[in-house]
Amino acid sequence: MIADDQSELGRIFADPAAYADPVSWHRTAARLRREAPIARVSLPEYQDFWAITRHADIMEIERNAEVFTNAPVPALLSRVQYEEQDPDELAPVKTLVQMDGEDHKAHRGIVNDWFKPASVRKLSDRVDLLATQWVDQMAATGGACDFATDIAMHYPLQVILSILGLPEEDHQRMLQLTQELFGAEDPDFGRVGDDAGVLAVMLDFVSYFTELSASRRSHPTDDLASVIANARLDGSLLPDLDVMGFYLIIATAGHDTTANSIAGGLLALLEHPEQLERLQADPALIDNAADELIRYVSPVKHFVRTCRVPFRVGEVEFVPGDVTLLSFASGNRDEEVFEEAFALDVARANASAHLAFGFGRHFCLGAHLARMEVRALFRELLGRLEWIELDGTPTFVQSTLVSGPKSVPVRFGIR
Ligand code: HEM
Repeated sequence: MIADDQSELGRIFADPAAYADPVSWHRTAARLRREAPIARVSLPEYQDFWAITRHADIMEIERNAEVFTNAPVPALLSRVQYEEQDPDELAPVKTLVQMDGEDHKAHRGIVNDWFKPASVRKLSDRVDLLATQWVDQMAATGGACDFATDIAMHYPLQVILSILGLPEEDHQRMLQLTQELFGAEDPDFGRVGDDAGVLAVMLDFVSYFTELSASRRSHPTDDLASVIANARLDGSLLPDLDVMGFYLIIATAGHDTTANSIAGGLLALLEHPEQLERLQADPALIDNAADELIRYVSPVKHFVRTCRVPFRVGEVEFVPGDVTLLSFASGNRDEEVFEEAFALDVARANASAHLAFGFGRHFCLGAHLARMEVRALFRELLGRLEWIELDGTPTFVQSTLVSGPKSVPVRFGIR
């Protein structure tokens, strides 16, 4: 394959609109995996990068976190942003995904215990209750709804509000904040090109969370917001910006990722009705099916790593400054790892080998919680659904970072 072709095909990783057409996106990614698995992409509008499309190569780069760092910026930039980049300005609030080495280890250590399986299991009653309430809500629509916007978008946010210990009245405000910050590339959600708008959202976030941390410092409770507000590194409380970074990543990272897995998961089941039937007939498969649905949807499309010292992966010798784009969505359809990778198979034996939660030191902190949420919702929903079908054409979010269905109109009968 000639270099120009690689660049043109590689546009699918940089152009938000490309992700809104998943069939065509995956066709191009599959071709790159076969013909140019580590492709050099140079486009006028975006920073130059190497697209890493195979499962094994993504793991190799993540495994060598001293060689390939998250700094200066862990996601793809436009050429203008890249050329003018000042990391402090691009990321005034630092979160775990912007950190490396000891700094990352120390910060992750503050909340790690909270997200371990034993702690997450304590949340299962609350998660089950919320799943029941949202399926009740679906039933209350009278037999037709947009599953993405009416159900899937709200339930994970309510789980997050619960773990942070925030009141239900703040639901709407948080929904708007996370959608506007994370969906900023999508014209329906974000304030594209409106820097003042994005700044206003950030300021709203900052004032909300400043109040939260002050209240948890004066009156600690047993929620995650208190753990963060009262955490100490080297004997001192965290600086305000670090506290903000934590709240920001917990509030955003677990929201539309999980929502997209649920809406995209239902859509995948509607497109594979025999798998839906199989799950309804054998609910014990739901635990495994959650991973298969998350693999299939892969809501986090990419993260970026920057090479620090010369290092060979496959046939490419990377040099310092090279930017590698880890395409989790592509790695999860890698035919060398997943047999019939394009098929949905709720009983797939190696479903959990997917890279939708990343790999290595930055492996998704919320993975156990996310699996629990997906399982709880589908257990409740599939146990009560009598029939369901699409009631319109689904549409997809335009975003290079987190994307999935924006709209999944359905008609159904439910108990
Ligand atoms: C199905 C839903 C989810 C998906 C697909 C997902 C995916 C990811 C991915 C791909 C990463 C980066 C991993 C890497 O760089 O190797 C990540 C990191 C992270 N996720 Fe998730 N996530 C999900 C749900 C959640 C939830 C529910 C939470 C918490 C409430 C959460 C919190 C985080 C945090 C804090 C990080 C940063 C970890 C670090 O840099 O050390 N995620 N997630």
